[in-house]
Amino acid sequence: MTAFPAWYFDESKMAGVDFEDEARVAVYDRNQTASTPEKERALVNRLGIASEHTVIDLGTGTGNFAIQASLTGASVYAVDISQAMLAYAQSKAQKAGATTIAFHQAGFLTYEHQDRLADFVVTKNALHILPDFWKMSAFLKMAAMLKPKGVLYLRDVIFSFPPADYKASINEWIQQVAKPEGEGWTARDFEMHVREEHSTFAWIIEGMLTRSGFEIVEANYNTPTYTEYLCIKAA
Ligand SMILES: C[S@@+](CC[C@H](N)C(=O)[O-])C[C@H]1O[C@@H](n2cnc3c(N)ncnc32)[C@H](O)[C@@H]1O
Repeated sequence: MTAFPAWYFDESKMAGVDFEDEARVAVYDRNQTASTPEKERALVNRLGIASEHTVIDLGTGTGNFAIQASLTGASVYAVDISQAMLAYAQSKAQKAGATTIAFHQAGFLTYEHQDRLADFVVTKNALHILPDFWKMSAFLKMAAMLKPKGVLYLRDVIFSFPPADYKASINEWIQQVAKPEGEGWTARDFEMHVREEHSTFAWIIEGMLTRSGFEIVEANYNTPTYTEYLCIKAA
């Protein structure tokens, strides 16, 4: 086990939503309509994940992606800082018959990959939990976990609107996506995300990706507030 210096970021003190609260985990699973088995299966197919591959899912949450990757026969490492999330994901994996997942309670900055280098690192809707300085450390660690030419897939709340438009863009986003109480993520949830979590601009993320040894082969600015990247680790 690595000993971390006193200045190291404490990942156990999670910003924003408390994912150690079991009730919040079940609500999360219900509200996270961007992560259904069908959508995750489509992503697994799009990435070309198959039985010979090793896949690391960082911030796995309730495990929808890890489960679909495992159903191909791939070796999957599902990593999350929250024990409550992992317990929920484990129970879902068992019900789905996904038997090739190793669950690890660890964070972006503390997970130590002990097995063979991965073909894929996937992280969805989770990296925003880290301030930018620590996102850079996380990218360096992701690069170290991958084989040369390995693939990093990143999707998150990442802003591609012009910086000067930030007030209008954030307000517009929240108005468009917020649901009434009890029907999904509310305006309060999105407000808290912007205020307390660490979503940042696409050009900052892109600078970090290239400086950590990735080539960005696809950048999809799906909306002004969600971005996905497909990257290859330089050989
Ligand atoms: C919004 S959920 C996303 C879950 C899943 N990837 C998805 O797409 O639905 C964010 C997840 O990141 C986890 N998390 C928070 N801080 C973390 C950290 N420092 N390292 C790894 N995971 C973390 C949370 O416990 C939670 O399960």
